[in-house]
Amino acid sequence: MKGIILAGGTGSRLRPLTNVTNKHLLPIYDKPMIFYPLEFLKSMGIKEIILTTGKEFAGDFADLLGDGSAFGVSLTYKVQESPLGIAHALGVTESIIGEDSIMVILGDNVFMLEKEEEARIRERVAAFASNPDGAVIFLKEVDDPRRFGVPTIGNGGKLLGITEKPTHPGSNYAVTGLYLYDSKVFRKIKALRPSARGELELTDVNNAYLTEGKLDYSVILGEWTDAGTFESLHKANLIAKEARHNGK
Ligand code: G1P
Repeated sequence: MKGIILAGGTGSRLRPLTNVTNKHLLPIYDKPMIFYPLEFLKSMGIKEIILTTGKEFAGDFADLLGDGSAFGVSLTYKVQESPLGIAHALGVTESIIGEDSIMVILGDNVFMLEKEEEARIRERVAAFASNPDGAVIFLKEVDDPRRFGVPTIGNGGKLLGITEKPTHPGSNYAVTGLYLYDSKVFRKIKALRPSARGELELTDVNNAYLTEGKLDYSVILGEWTDAGTFESLHKANLIAKEARHNGK
């Protein structure tokens, strides 16, 4: 299994912080944001990692992370020519991934898990890697689901669908930016049409898997946030600081 960090986009919700740099290079407490998804993939036992970003700041990522050896991973960079959405950013990695299964993480997602939960997810990842079939998403209960992808969950915990940024959320869960996919994901991305915000969405990819009965989920109990808005960036700083002081 390979890991993919999606670190493109314009970071428009964080201007002026992102006027002269990429969102994922901004600090979260004592580290650049991009360290968090990188270290998370490593904690999942994934050592071969592809980082996708726009061409404007690709060199800055290489300056900061090099070939990954300082972090105990092997890093490959892939340029996304234009910010056409996170599913598009994943699509450009197809030539590197081939038939492998993948764990995808959004570059602004911060997970702070207890060791037991980390081990539980690592086992799930290993099981998927040994027999990849379909996709897995990871959900987290949140106060305001409206700014996320939100699952509608029916009787017996059955996943019924995912809506991106719903006005009337179908549950109190957010779809976090962490996904497991088999190699069929690239075929699904090619069939996508741009969403209302003009981007190719992973939510549409996930719904395509769901339609085929091939989408599973797991609920995250530890701390999670993304960091794409001032509020969430602030929260990310708080949970990173808390985790550091608890020795995580
Ligand atoms: C993206 C996804 C959304 C997901 C979120 C998690 O949203 O589209 O489904 O819940 O990441 O970080 P965006 O940050 O692009 O608005």
